[in-house]
Amino acid sequence: MSVKKIEHIINYKARDAFKPFHARTQRWAVLVCHRRAGKTISACVDILRAALSFKGKNGQFAYVSPYRSQAKSISWEYFKYYAGTTAKDTNESELMITLVNGSKIRLFGADNADAMRGLGFDGVYLDEYGDFKPSVWGNVIRPTLSDRQGWCVFGGTPKGKNGFWEIKQTALRIPKEWFYMELKASQSNLLPAGEIEAVKAQLTPDQYMQEYECSFEAALLGAFYGTEMNEAQSRIIDVAYDNNLPVHTAWDLGYRDDTACWFYQVIGNELHIIDFFAVSGENITNICSIVLNKRYRYGKHYLPHDARAKTLAAAGKSIIEQMAEHLGINSMEIVPDLSIQDGIQAVRKILPNCWFDRVKCEEGIEALRQYSRDYDQDKKAYRQTPKHNWCSHPADAFRMLAVAWRQEPVPKAPNREVALIVGDQNTATLEDVWADHNKYKRSRI
Ligand SMILES: Nc1ncnc2c1ncn2[C@@H]1O[C@H](COP(=O)(O)OP(=O)(O)O)[C@@H](O)[C@H]1O
Ligand SMILES: [Mg+2]
Repeated sequence: MSVKKIEHIINYKARDAFKPFHARTQRWAVLVCHRRAGKTISACVDILRAALSFKGKNGQFAYVSPYRSQAKSISWEYFKYYAGTTAKDTNESELMITLVNGSKIRLFGADNADAMRGLGFDGVYLDEYGDFKPSVWGNVIRPTLSDRQGWCVFGGTPKGKNGFWEIKQTALRIPKEWFYMELKASQSNLLPAGEIEAVKAQLTPDQYMQEYECSFEAALLGAFYGTEMNEAQSRIIDVAYDNNLPVHTAWDLGYRDDTACWFYQVIGNELHIIDFFAVSGENITNICSIVLNKRYRYGKHYLPHDARAKTLAAAGKSIIEQMAEHLGINSMEIVPDLSIQDGIQAVRKILPNCWFDRVKCEEGIEALRQYSRDYDQDKKAYRQTPKHNWCSHPADAFRMLAVAWRQEPVPKAPNREVALIVGDQNTATLEDVWADHNKYKRSRI
């Protein structure tokens, strides 16, 4: 049997800075590079080369952006251009290229990561990994690399000390298994002369440090709770469930998309945030089973005001009525309908009192850190309204928590027992006490 040799010269000249990346031997890689350094182009070509030189019959490769629309607008054209005549089939609706050797390259968005479930890949690139929802890697992407022993590259610019920062720490710790590359604009010489100065003049120092100098320390741009969450860092620890106290929950209910729920206990002035979950597209029965399976002793379940609206799907029953069937009607509460801005203020106010469980609340904490203002491309300024993305649901649920806490009955301090001592020898009778009491009352009239 003759083997047909494919020869295709990719019309790409690697920038010097990226040559070590293309020559890496490790299974895992991290690229922390400034804007416009060329990481997306390099990654697309890297995948294409791996797909074309794949030895087996049907290599499977994926490129994942935080949002599917981003993958389409940024890298889809790169793939088509560089694949050239080696593309046997180009499927625009699935964003999938089948190459002449049978290898497939498919584009995904982390916003719809479930589309990757059940698939297996030989190589994956995660672009702008700092914007990914943290659970996507462990729950969805990592398992797709197991049976084919696939490789993975995490690329992007920093987004504070989040999952991308943690991956960087792992890469630095285990260089045998991880390739690591960092490119700061002041050192890379990749931007045209004068561009750094021009950018510096237009960005805030934090913006410049994050986007061009690869700083994970810079304050997150446009984040609503940037300062408060930085200050909360020392209060993100192991927070145990105290089974002497009730656990309250606070919700954001997505009827078709995500539902998020926080679990917390109130101890004096402290809020112990002990657990969190977010699910997508689940029905009320399954969502309530998650709550019941946690086996906490529940106090109140705080729902947003629209949980009272009747739904057509459930034969005219509102969400609160449906949930009450599982969780008990007496424990359901509707949170007052404050404006988003007032809710955000309420969150800012309570964050200094919050202690978060580091492990169980990981995704919720990251959402609070990244919850940010929408960016107006035309005005080049942040709006006051929040950006809608995966962070919105956990952040909305946390607003419910903050507003609910204000109205929660503060447990009364137990009555102190005061000894009544009347007379020299403490020998007064009840009549003496009443007489004394009446005298006191009269004296006030
Ligand atoms: N190897 C290369 N050859 C030609 N142009 C490149 C190369 N790498 C980067 N560029 C140019 O730099 C721009 C930014 O590249 P991109 O990969 O989108 O950067 P990043 O993802 O790091 O922000 C591209 O639009 C392209 O014009
Ligand atoms: Mg890019």
